[in-house]
Amino acid sequence: MSAFYVTTPIYYVNDKPHIGTAYSTIAADVLARYHRLRGQPTRFLTGLDEHGLKLERRAREQGMEPQAYVDMMVPPFRAAWTQLRCEHDDFIRTTEPRHKQRVHELWRRCKAAGDIFEDDYEGLYCVGCEAYYTEKDLLEGNVCPIHKKPVEVLKERTSFFRLSAFSDKLLAFYEANPKFVQPEGRFNEVKSFVKEGLKDLSISRSTFSWGVTVPDQPNHVVYVWFDALTNYMSSLEGPARADEKSPLMDQFWAPNGRVIHIVGKDILRFHAVYWPAFLMSAGLTPPTQVWAHGWLTVDGQKMSKSLGNFIPPGPVVEALGADVLRYYLMRDIAFGQDGDFSHQSLFARYHGELGNGLGNLLNRVVATIVKNSFDGKVPAVALDQLNDLDRGLLTKAKEAATLAARQLDEVHPTRALESIWELVAAANKYVDQTEPWKLAKQGELERLGQVVYVVLEALRYLGVMLWPYMPDKCDALLAQLGLSSLAPNVGRDLWPTETKALPAGTQTQPGAALFPRFDKDQEKAMLDKLIPKVEPVAEAPDAGNVTSAAAPAAAAPAASTTPVKDRELAAKADTSFDEFMKLDLRVGEVKTAERVKKSDKLLRLEVDLGPLGTRQILAGIGKHYAPEDLVGKRIAVLANLPPRKMMGLESQGMVLAAGDGEVLSVMHPHKDVPLGSTIA
Ligand code: MSP
Repeated sequence: MSAFYVTTPIYYVNDKPHIGTAYSTIAADVLARYHRLRGQPTRFLTGLDEHGLKLERRAREQGMEPQAYVDMMVPPFRAAWTQLRCEHDDFIRTTEPRHKQRVHELWRRCKAAGDIFEDDYEGLYCVGCEAYYTEKDLLEGNVCPIHKKPVEVLKERTSFFRLSAFSDKLLAFYEANPKFVQPEGRFNEVKSFVKEGLKDLSISRSTFSWGVTVPDQPNHVVYVWFDALTNYMSSLEGPARADEKSPLMDQFWAPNGRVIHIVGKDILRFHAVYWPAFLMSAGLTPPTQVWAHGWLTVDGQKMSKSLGNFIPPGPVVEALGADVLRYYLMRDIAFGQDGDFSHQSLFARYHGELGNGLGNLLNRVVATIVKNSFDGKVPAVALDQLNDLDRGLLTKAKEAATLAARQLDEVHPTRALESIWELVAAANKYVDQTEPWKLAKQGELERLGQVVYVVLEALRYLGVMLWPYMPDKCDALLAQLGLSSLAPNVGRDLWPTETKALPAGTQTQPGAALFPRFDKDQEKAMLDKLIPKVEPVAEAPDAGNVTSAAAPAAAAPAASTTPVKDRELAAKADTSFDEFMKLDLRVGEVKTAERVKKSDKLLRLEVDLGPLGTRQILAGIGKHYAPEDLVGKRIAVLANLPPRKMMGLESQGMVLAAGDGEVLSVMHPHKDVPLGSTIA
């Protein structure tokens, strides 16, 4: 059985943990828990990236020595992962001696291979990214596209890694490992980047000192990415020398182990290009797979300290529990795509899927029927007496288990949850169809026993399959079924199958509701506490053809003192039905979307309106949507607005959106109505 090794990026310690970093860590923990459940030797690594100019500067700004500063930042990370129930096997810090030793070793190996040499380097350097940029990758005014700050010109004598020699080797490696990067679209970006030809990479710095010193060159420190990437091996303790064996390395690193790096899409290039090149140079095997997830926005906006919408996971955990946040993040933000964190949607999923869907199922059957009709014991049933409906649900459970396992094996935690939730829906439907409460009332105990048994079995499947996502809730669920908590062990596969069925006579233990309900007032009070107070972002006049509640704010003179919300609340004067019917409102599908040059708000969309053809529409939603997130979406469009030119481009319609100046949401039909359907 091959070992499984999953890693998160090591986080910079200049920020405290937030839901973005929590997302990576939770995803890795879900995968680790799943593989442990399958009985596989599993190792989960996370940690901190503590070197670099940015950190040195941050420490000095605070009047601290860098080491004291980074030491101070460690406890919040450790505490956050504990609170989120992320059970890592190792926590690495790049300031640890064990790590520095490995960086030296990797350096020596690359140097011995002839891939490290010295030369002058002058470049445009972003301190935030700790990376050099070429002009073409920067925004106007040589501004970093990620940190939106001007880059600095740095010149220094440095060591270079001969990355240019690795283009062909990397392309051959990609060819031989067609799943090396996921999702596939991102792999294509990586391949195109490498196909353009790689430049040698400067991998040492003499302009600052907070880092791992270069072997035999104490006035240079190792480039922070060469340093940071090595962490994935430092944790495995080796190999220190080419002739030395490291048992952990042997077991967990590729090719023996399956190595999955979970990273955000912004740091994919470092992991999918530089890292395998360093390893190839050192004669080591690259990781098995690099999985790039998307970016989280908060209520439609990029998370940022200046906007005040930086979400730490702690308060959500205190309000709803770690499991609920874990479930929500894995369910709501499709793994691999960008997504939006919204407190409203978190509560909607809490009440809907968790409370009504799963919690209620357990409650309805265990707390009432099993308790009252069977003395709380799992009834004995003859399996060959079950009818088609019963067998249908048991088959559904097996199918969900097979599918979810495959999806989790392939690192699709969101898809796996969807498959598992089909079982929740099917089980609820089964209960509605079989009406066990009626059977109980009528005293049809034999039939009732069959129904109850089938539902309890479905719940057993669910309790195990959902455990990687919600370990505590699932242990509580299993306890109510009379089963013990899951305690994974190497060599014992605990994934549910029909042969591990709930034994008849098991004493169930009805307990507290898994997901207790809050009434409207309680929920409002919780939301008021949780939702960050964000300053409304004033829309500039080039807001484009988008209509939204925020639009009046865009048009309002800057001196207006009426807050956006008050202006919105004022009702408009009545209109006539005929006036309304003059509007040609249609459903369209976004075929392509891109940013309009020199505008951070305008997106150029091509929208298919069915019989009306495809229209070019400019929409002022660029601050709220990434273009790629709109492609393929069905949206509402005002189609009979006279064409209007903006930024030299003609807009042939208007996208309908709703918002309050803080959040903006494009309207879309919740069923797949044909393109061009009228809206009225
Ligand atoms: N230190 C480097 C990683 C080195 S790994 C050898 C780094 N650190 S980071 O703290 O800036 O980011 C760590 C991870 O957090 C990245 O994968 C990044 O994508 C992720 N996220 C930070 N903000 C995020 C969101 N808003 N949404 C999703 N993930 C985000 O880069």
